[in-house]
Amino acid sequence: MAYIDNPVAVFDSGMGGISVLKEMVRLMPEEDFIYFGDSANAPYGVRPVEEVRKLTIDHISYFVEKKSAKAVAVACNTATSAAVRDLREMYPELPLVGVEPAIKPAVNSCDNPRILVMATPRTLAEEKFLNLEHIYEQKAAIFPLPCPGLMEFVEEGKLEGEELENYLHSIMDPWLSEELTGIVLGCTHYPFVKKAIQKVAGPGVEIFDGSLGTARELARRIRAAGLNQSEDHKGSVTFLNSSGDPSKLKLMEYLFRSNV
Ligand code: DGL
Repeated sequence: MAYIDNPVAVFDSGMGGISVLKEMVRLMPEEDFIYFGDSANAPYGVRPVEEVRKLTIDHISYFVEKKSAKAVAVACNTATSAAVRDLREMYPELPLVGVEPAIKPAVNSCDNPRILVMATPRTLAEEKFLNLEHIYEQKAAIFPLPCPGLMEFVEEGKLEGEELENYLHSIMDPWLSEELTGIVLGCTHYPFVKKAIQKVAGPGVEIFDGSLGTARELARRIRAAGLNQSEDHKGSVTFLNSSGDPSKLKLMEYLFRSNV
């Protein structure tokens, strides 16, 4: 089998990276994707950074070394913050992308940007986010909002309803008097609860996520390495989940096919 025929591995702590996978499949329908969600060890966002790094590196090296993945997307902000630098050192030739909060488009979207960045506590504590915040804080008011507990709603398939809205109010209400112009979804799980976030924030606040940018970057790197499949190849998506719970696989398929 030619290397070009090998799969692209997409990794997240659970269901969240499916929001990024969707854009990748839209851009590269000819590729074969393996999506792995580590729901057994989720949430990553409240774990110490060393644990997140080890879990991420262990899983991704499995896909690179045992499954011969030709490219990798770390479709998790938390895992990217903790491990992407080490992974790049381990696999310098591999097309590999991570995700980071889409602060740039949010800042550039208006004259007086006031941006709430929703993400896991771990993402917001790491150097990657602190550097981004530093770059843009001259141009914008940036309010980091750690959201422990939010990814669990997505992992349980609770994408709407009173319980979710009550949770969102409990964390977002103190910020709603800040005349926000934008909200950045800095965790790949959150696009699945975007409607509820928009409802709580109100219609005047624009919501940003980085999925499309990440998918474009992955496509660009695969092409640059000469590893893109021919366009007449019919691609596929295989879902794997570490929890061993069949309902998780069902939910992954559902999230992949849904319009949320
Ligand atoms: N989807 C992950 C992210 O983008 C985080 C969820 C978790 O806490 O495991 O940060």
